[in-house]
Amino acid sequence: MIKISIDKIQGGVSLDEVKALRNDAEKANRMLHDGSGKGNDFLGWVNLPNEITPEQLAAIEACARSMASLSEVIVVIGIGGSYLGAKAVLEAMGDSFRFLHKTQDAPVVLFAGQNLSEDYLYELLDAVKPYKLGAVVISKSGTTTEPAVAFRIIKEEIEKRYGKTEAARRIVAVTDAKRGALRTLAQQEGYVTFVIPDNVGGRYSVLTPVGLLPLSAAGVNVEELVRGARDMARATAPDVPFEENPAALYAAARNALYRKGYKTEILASYDPKLQYVAEWWKQLYGESEGKEGKGIFPASVTLTADLHSMGQYIQQGERTLMETVISINKPKHELKIDSDAANLDGLNYLAGKRVSEVNLMAEMGTLLAHVDGGVPNIRIELPELTEYYLGGLLYFFEKACGISGYLLGVNPFDQPGVEAYKKNMFALLGKPGYEDQGDELRKRL
Ligand code: PA5
Repeated sequence: MIKISIDKIQGGVSLDEVKALRNDAEKANRMLHDGSGKGNDFLGWVNLPNEITPEQLAAIEACARSMASLSEVIVVIGIGGSYLGAKAVLEAMGDSFRFLHKTQDAPVVLFAGQNLSEDYLYELLDAVKPYKLGAVVISKSGTTTEPAVAFRIIKEEIEKRYGKTEAARRIVAVTDAKRGALRTLAQQEGYVTFVIPDNVGGRYSVLTPVGLLPLSAAGVNVEELVRGARDMARATAPDVPFEENPAALYAAARNALYRKGYKTEILASYDPKLQYVAEWWKQLYGESEGKEGKGIFPASVTLTADLHSMGQYIQQGERTLMETVISINKPKHELKIDSDAANLDGLNYLAGKRVSEVNLMAEMGTLLAHVDGGVPNIRIELPELTEYYLGGLLYFFEKACGISGYLLGVNPFDQPGVEAYKKNMFALLGKPGYEDQGDELRKRL
């Protein structure tokens, strides 16, 4: 099970100050379950791990197998919550250098629609030319511009290659049950579709087909991912006492620190495999909490790489930072440092040690240095980087985010601020209905 340690936050707040939030955190957790809080029409994720049926999982896995039988490359098209969950798990579970392997056990999954870079899309189309191609297009609203643009281009490529009928077998859509342009398009084109439940928002949707279908297609064991989330749902339930409930403890600790002026939380890990877990976490917390002029700013670093860049700021910059470290106890592989007769690099004192032992001492040394430098530290330990523990970690962060948002007094399930850029972009692009605003904006540019 995942273990959380908050004893090293005491340079910033006392454990008593964290415990003072016990009642509020327990209440917030109950509100997530009884639906009495803000945004209660988006609480479908709370019981999701227990509600996914074996039949639903089997249908996702069967579709993934069918896609894998047709395609060497699957382009997964989506943005925000319709992208980051699958990307995070795939990067964590996949071989870091899988693209270089001559043979692949599963289709290579690539992502598009998460940006509007012409070069990115052009180079993607160019790179997939020699490969059999399929696509999963994901959009809850079915109207988001970035994935819609990417999908139009990739759909055309698939139809050009295989014809419309065969293309329809190679494209799967994940969207709202009834609404949105993507639902209409999928119906007209005859695509297989999966539904994103109404009551699950994008950034809480990794355990729906949004995350599970691309991951299953890429060969990730989604049953284990869900099992891990299910066990974490039990471990973070409202009847679990505060001191034993990792989600309540994490939410209370970061809020106690926030109230003392620690306005930025840096999520750190010592394995680049977790870089996109941090991106997923940033979206989850940034979009859920950053509103009404409030919210902890979520940042991230990958260590030890960033000790040689952001490390300076963390150690000695403005003292408004807290740090949460995700630590993996056991690596997947074993690699030792050998003794060298000449010892020209002076590293023989490490001979016989595993690289992970060196990494752990870097982590321990950094922990103490940052705490001494005035950066309170929360530590989250995973026994291993497996689907099971990752599923638990994702659910843990979701649950803690819901509790934390309520402690902060915001609705953690809306994102009204995201509309501002969209309106301007539509106006500047001349989308029908936005003409007047377009003229106004152009004058200001
Ligand atoms: O968390 C969210 O709700 C957002 O980040 C959405 O996932 C993102 O904007 C993509 O939306 P959609 O799936 O409707 O294309």
